[in-house]
Amino acid sequence: MDFSFTEEQLMLQDAARRIAQDVIAPSAEHHDQTGEFPLANIQLLGENGLMGIEVPTEYGGAGMDPVSYVLAMIEIAAGDAAHSTIMSVNNSLFCNGILKFGTEEQKQKYVRAIAEGREIGAFALTEPQSGSDATAMRCRAVKQADGSFVINGKKSWITSGPVARYIVLFAMSEPEKGSRGITAFMIDTAKPGFHRGKTEPKLGIRASATCEIEFADYVVGPEDVLGEEGQGFKIAMGVLDAGRIGIASQAIGIARAAYEKTLEYVRERKAFGAPIGTFQMTQAKIADMKCKLDASLLLTLRAAWLKGQGKPFSAEAAIAKLTASEAAMWITHQAVQIHGGMGYSKEMPLERYFRDAKITEIYEGTSEIQRMVIARAETGLR
Ligand code: CAA
Repeated sequence: MDFSFTEEQLMLQDAARRIAQDVIAPSAEHHDQTGEFPLANIQLLGENGLMGIEVPTEYGGAGMDPVSYVLAMIEIAAGDAAHSTIMSVNNSLFCNGILKFGTEEQKQKYVRAIAEGREIGAFALTEPQSGSDATAMRCRAVKQADGSFVINGKKSWITSGPVARYIVLFAMSEPEKGSRGITAFMIDTAKPGFHRGKTEPKLGIRASATCEIEFADYVVGPEDVLGEEGQGFKIAMGVLDAGRIGIASQAIGIARAAYEKTLEYVRERKAFGAPIGTFQMTQAKIADMKCKLDASLLLTLRAAWLKGQGKPFSAEAAIAKLTASEAAMWITHQAVQIHGGMGYSKEMPLERYFRDAKITEIYEGTSEIQRMVIARAETGLR
C-alpha cells in the first residue's frame, strides 16, 4: 500500500493552499459577518481549475482524480468553510452528474461554464416537506406531446440558489412509479418560470447563499433531460455518494484549521506557571483531536481512491462523511473549550469553525442517513 501522493496531486494541493491562505482566509471573517457571496474568490478558484477538479480538460476542468479533489477541498475549507461549500456543490453535485449522465451538448454547455468559474451551479433535490426522505418530493414535471416537460413546484435549502445560473433539478415525472418516476433536468435560471424565494439566515457557512426556489410553468426541452426519464433518483443518489466525499473533506479542513490554532494556543498560553499543553487534560484532548483527524483523512482518501478506481464507494463515502463530520463537530467544540473565553469571542475564528462544522452533519445526508446507508450495506437488510 502506497500512502504517498503524486506530484500533480501535491501541486494542486499547494495551489489550493496558497489561494486559501493568501486570499480566502484573510476575508473569511468579513464574509461570515456580512454573508456577502464571495463571487470574485469563486471566479479565482475557477480560473485555477478548482471548480472542476475532476472535469476533463476538454470541458474546461483540471482533469484530476478524486484524491486531488479531497486534498484541494481540505485546503479551501481550512481557509473558509463557506467557500468550500460553493466549491463542493459546483464540483460534486453539479459537474459529476452531468459528466456521468449528460449528453455531449450538456457537457459543453453546462459543465464548461461551471468548471471555468464563469457561472455558479446548484443541485435541487430537497423540498419544504422532503429532506432525508427524498422520494417524497412533490415538484412535478409533466410531459408534453412534443417531448418537453412543464415544471411546477418548490425546492428548498438550495445551496448557491440565490446566485446559480444553472441547476440540476429532480422532479417527479411519473408519481405512480415512486422513486422510479423521478427525472433529472437541466435548468437555466435566466429562463421564464423560475423564481427565487427568501435567502436562509444560517448559523454557519454564512457566505454560502442558500434559498428556496420555485417553478411556475417552467418549460424544459427534451435536450435538457439529464439521463433517462425515471432515472433521476439513481442519478441523485450516485451524485450524493460522490458529494459525501467532498463534505467529508470539508469537515476535515474545518477541523484541521481549529486543531492548528489549538496547537499554537496550548504551546503559548500559560496557566498555573506552565503552558496549558503540558496539562494531562489538554494532552488528552490534543491526542484525541489528532486521532480523529487522521482517521477521517484516511477514510476519506479510501473512498476517493475507490471512486478513482471505478469501484463501488457508496458505503465508504458514507463512513467517511459520518466520521469526518462528527470529528469536526467534536474537534471544533474542544478547540473552543481549550481557548476558553477567547474561543467564545468573535475576535478569534474558533467560534466560526464550531458554527461552520455543524452543517457537515446535516447536508448531503444527515448523520442518521449515513448510518442507515452503512447499516444497510453491512447487513444487506432494508
Ligand atoms: N446509487 C445509485 N442508486 C441508488 C443508491 C445509490 N447510492 N441508493 C439507492 N439507490 C437506488 C436503489 O437501488 C433503488 O433502486 P431500484 O428502484 O431499482 O430498486 C432506488 O434507488 C431507491 O432506493 P431506496 O429504496 O434505498 O430509497 P429510499 O427511499 O429508502 O432512500 C436513502 C434511501 C439513502 C434514505 C436516500 O433517500 C437518501 O440518501 N436520503 C438523503 C437525501 C440527501 O442526502 N439529501 C441531501 C440534499 S442535497 C444537499 O444537501 C445539497 C447541498 O445543499 C449542499
